[in-house]
Amino acid sequence: MKIYAVKISDINEEELDKLCLSIDSEKRHRIERFINKKDKLRASIGEILIRSIIIRELNIENEYIKFGKNQYGKPYLQGYPDFNFNISHSEDFVVCAVDSKPVGIDIEAVKRIEYKDIAKNFFTEREFNYIVKQKSDIQLNKFYEIWTLKESYMKCIGKGFSTPLKSFSVCMDKYEDIRVIIDKQYENYIFKIFDISMDYKMAVCSLNREISDNIIIVDQNNLINNYFDLFQGDEVYNGNQ
Ligand code: COA
Ligand code: MG
Repeated sequence: MKIYAVKISDINEEELDKLCLSIDSEKRHRIERFINKKDKLRASIGEILIRSIIIRELNIENEYIKFGKNQYGKPYLQGYPDFNFNISHSEDFVVCAVDSKPVGIDIEAVKRIEYKDIAKNFFTEREFNYIVKQKSDIQLNKFYEIWTLKESYMKCIGKGFSTPLKSFSVCMDKYEDIRVIIDKQYENYIFKIFDISMDYKMAVCSLNREISDNIIIVDQNNLINNYFDLFQGDEVYNGNQ
């Protein structure tokens, strides 16, 4: 498995328009509908990040990259069932996990929210109890860990929001591994939490046996410049590893 992260920094309108124009039409139309410039930027960076990875890892030319979506909206690379990826974005980060088996990733910026009310209403009793039994100064962090773990699982199985949040619990087993339980049964998914930055929580869920500890940080400017070069057919992506 490989995990990539791009720290987002603002770019000018002209450059953003150029970026949008380099994206295939279905996605471009969706991105152009975003009112917020940052939403546009995050979605565009996600798209060129996964394209750059595919070009480099699978040696497919950009114009031959075709994405499909499952019935719940999870994108996949058409014709390559062993290439699985998932993208998440929040505030200043775009992250992407790539694996040979289904994978889910979620990143969230930690905000001072009424986590107890949310956990009570949306998480299972087991998850709620796990959060409130922690020392009060770490409860918010634990809440975000559960949130991103749950979402990484929902994104790994590809059903997104259509999976009821209370239909499964994420918890630690007796070996302190993070597991998912459905109807009192442990499922075969594995998880990892990453402290990618002080104010963020990130979780990855996989059907493989191991999740890498390593995050490949990709510089936004390098990514954009290399992608433009590539788009003009001159050069190959060379992310910052
Ligand atoms: N399964 C997996 N991945 C999906 C997906 C699905 N069904 N649908 C879309 N995605 C991918 C896309 O690549 C999307 O990026 P794009 O819109 O730029 O193409 C990306 O996931 C978005 O992920 P993220 O940044 O984490 O967005 P989100 O947190 O706003 O939404 C979804 C995640 C897309 C799965 C959303 O439909 C959803 O169900 N969210 C659940 C949120 C929730 O209930 N959270 C409560 C805490 S557990
Ligand atoms: Mg999310």
